[in-house]
Formats: sequence, structure tokens, C-alpha cells
Amino acid sequence: MAEFDDAITERIQAMNNRVDGLQKLDLYFYNQPITELRGGARVLVNNRDMGMYASYSYLGLVGHPKINKAALEAVEKYGTGTHGVRSLAGSLTIHDELEETIAEFKGAESAITYSSGYATNLTVISTLVGRGDYVISDKLNHASIVDGCMMSGAKFLRFRHNDMQALEQRLQQIPSGSAKLVVADSVFSMDGDVIEFPKMVELCQRYGAWLMIDEAHSVGVLGKTGRGIEEHFNMPGTIDIKMGTLSKTIPSVGGYVAGKKELIKYLRHASRAYIFSAALPPAQAAAAKAAFEVILEEPWRVEKLNRNSHQFISGLKECGFDTLHTETAIVPVICGDDNTAFAVTQAAQHKDVFVLPVVSPAVPPGLARLRATVTAAHEPHEIDYAMSVIYEAGKQIGLVN
Ligand SMILES: Cc1ncc(COP(=O)(O)O)c(C=O)c1O
Repeated sequence: MAEFDDAITERIQAMNNRVDGLQKLDLYFYNQPITELRGGARVLVNNRDMGMYASYSYLGLVGHPKINKAALEAVEKYGTGTHGVRSLAGSLTIHDELEETIAEFKGAESAITYSSGYATNLTVISTLVGRGDYVISDKLNHASIVDGCMMSGAKFLRFRHNDMQALEQRLQQIPSGSAKLVVADSVFSMDGDVIEFPKMVELCQRYGAWLMIDEAHSVGVLGKTGRGIEEHFNMPGTIDIKMGTLSKTIPSVGGYVAGKKELIKYLRHASRAYIFSAALPPAQAAAAKAAFEVILEEPWRVEKLNRNSHQFISGLKECGFDTLHTETAIVPVICGDDNTAFAVTQAAQHKDVFVLPVVSPAVPPGLARLRATVTAAHEPHEIDYAMSVIYEAGKQIGLVN
């Protein structure tokens, strides 16, 4: 193999040096081997039973008997793969059933699925807008949205996080007659706060912009029955492009968009991740379909998640932690610099609380944090224990008194 001495080599070395340095100090917490998911609230990590505070399985649906059964039956019926792209190799009944279920759950006419949430954002944004158009994105939107905007070739405008005045200024900047798409997360994945949805809808309507909302962290989380942000604000039918993932509350893998029939028909014939990439495996499609049904059949899960989130956020605030503006199950515990975040994580993990640090460049320098999540699988006493461990760790490091 050839030896290189160039910018690619430097990049590879720089990242490897950072990882090696953290590993030497026992401060590398990523990619840890999990051998058992114990009902969602606990996991077996490196042979240690730990409380799980880094999961997106918000309603504790991983391993749910109805969902597992649906997946197993799909394997029996269809096998494990999809033998190619749906447009050419044929669309399985389970895919159509899943898309109908999603459309109904999201109060939309139709839906389309892709093999991941990441691919969904990339392909949908870059199919809808292109050169000569405008795409406007919140500064804290998920990387998959940012990548979709950049890939599209449209003029990419960003606005200050959750600042609707800044969004309006951006909309005013755009020449009239241009096609424009506004994209935002419903719940922000690093901060847990909720987008100023009513104002955003009003601005999009006033300025004639399409509205795309990524509901990765709001399905199962927001709204009385967990249907997401439109239900939360009682504003049905206000999002043009309802994007979501099947990998968080829904314990499967994949992504989707729900919307008007014409939009979905267009995406089915124009979006490259649909036309040039294989469909979801049948077991994952069946699991996802069953999970949407379980959310509606077991409404106590959404209620319990709300109670648990409230207990976790208010408890950490009482301990003196800065949790930014979170209102949801994603709870940032601000530590400041990266080393403090690593030290708090290390102390918490030594006491069997599995939380993860998020450091720059994923978040701005100085805002390194634990990004802790709580789910409907946790019991109140478990949350109390996790909070006491985080508090002791914070105290030891001088973050709180
Ligand atoms: C807001 C948001 N959108 C999209 C994605 C990508 O979803 P997936 O993991 O299904 O690719 C994520 C994943 O973390 C996310 O947080």
C-alpha cells in the first residue's frame, strides 16, 4: 500500500491522536460495548449493570413484545433483505402498510420511507431545492439537515437559534418569487428545547416559504398522544414536510417524510435515496409499524415520560445545574470546558450511571455538557439515584455547591 504525507494523512493523524490521548487518560466514553439492553432503563456495559441515561428510546419500546413479534413474523414471511430498490425490484406490502400507518399517525395524506433519518434529510432537502432557490435553517439544526442544505446547492441561509426575528430578517432578504424552504428541528437534539413553532408557521405562511420540521425527538415525546409538535401546539396540518426517524422512539431504523399526496409522489420518483438505495429490511418495517400502534395503544408511556422528564429537569435545576431551556427528555447538564464534561462523566460512570459527554465541535466551545436523556422506562427512584450521582460528581469537580 502507498504511504502518503498530505492533508488527508494529517487529518487522520489529528483525530487518532485526540482519541488515543483520551483513551490513555481513561476519558474516552464513546463506542462502549453494550452486551444487553435490560428493558431500556438499564444496560450491561463492559459487564457492569448501569442505569441508562443516553438512550433515545423515549417510550422504552426497545424489546416490546408486540414489536418483537411483528419483526419475527416479517422475517418468517419475507426473509431478511429487500433484494434492491423498491422502484425496480418491487415494493413489499409491509412497506406500504408502514407508510399508511405513518401517514395516519402524522395526520397526513401520504408518507415515504428511507433507510435512515440521515439519508432522509439529505435526499429530501436536496430534491426539493437547488441552485437559484433558498434554504433557511436554524443554527442548531441537526447535522443531517445542514448536510442536506449544503448538498442541495441552494443558497444556504442560517438564523440565530430559535430566534423568530432573525428568521424573519432572513425571509425578507430573499428576492420575491424565489422558492424558499425553512427547515428546523422540532426538539433540538443537543439542548432539548422546542422550536417557536406558532411564530415559525405564521412567518412561513406570510412569506410563502415551505416548512419542513424534523420530528426525530418529538414523536412519542410531544403532544398528548405523542403525535408530535402539531399536536403539542394544537395546530394540525401546518407543516408541509413532516420528517422523522424510525430509530429513536420507534425502535427500528429508517426515516420518513409525511405530507400531501403530490409531494410524496414526487419524492418517490425524484429523491435519489429512494431511487438509488435499497428499502428498509422487512423486519425493521414491521417493527416500526407495530411501534406506531403501541404508542397509541399504551398512552401511559407518553404520560410517564412527561412525569420523568419533569422530575429530572427540576431536580437537576434544584441541585444548581444549568440545563439551558430544555422542556423535554433531552437534558443538557452544562459543564463548560471539555475536560470538566469528561471528569463529570467519569465520576458518574464510576457510580454506574451511563451518561455521555458532548464536547466541541458538536457543541460550541465553553458549552460542553453531559447530554442526559430520561425515558418512560425509568422509575422515579432510579432517576433520583442518577441525579444524586450527577450532583456528587458536579460537587466534587466544583461545578455546583
Ligand atoms: C434531529 C435529528 N435528525 C435526524 C437524525 C438522523 O436519524 P437516523 O439516526 O435515523 O439516521 C438524528 C439522529 O440523531 C437527529 O437527532
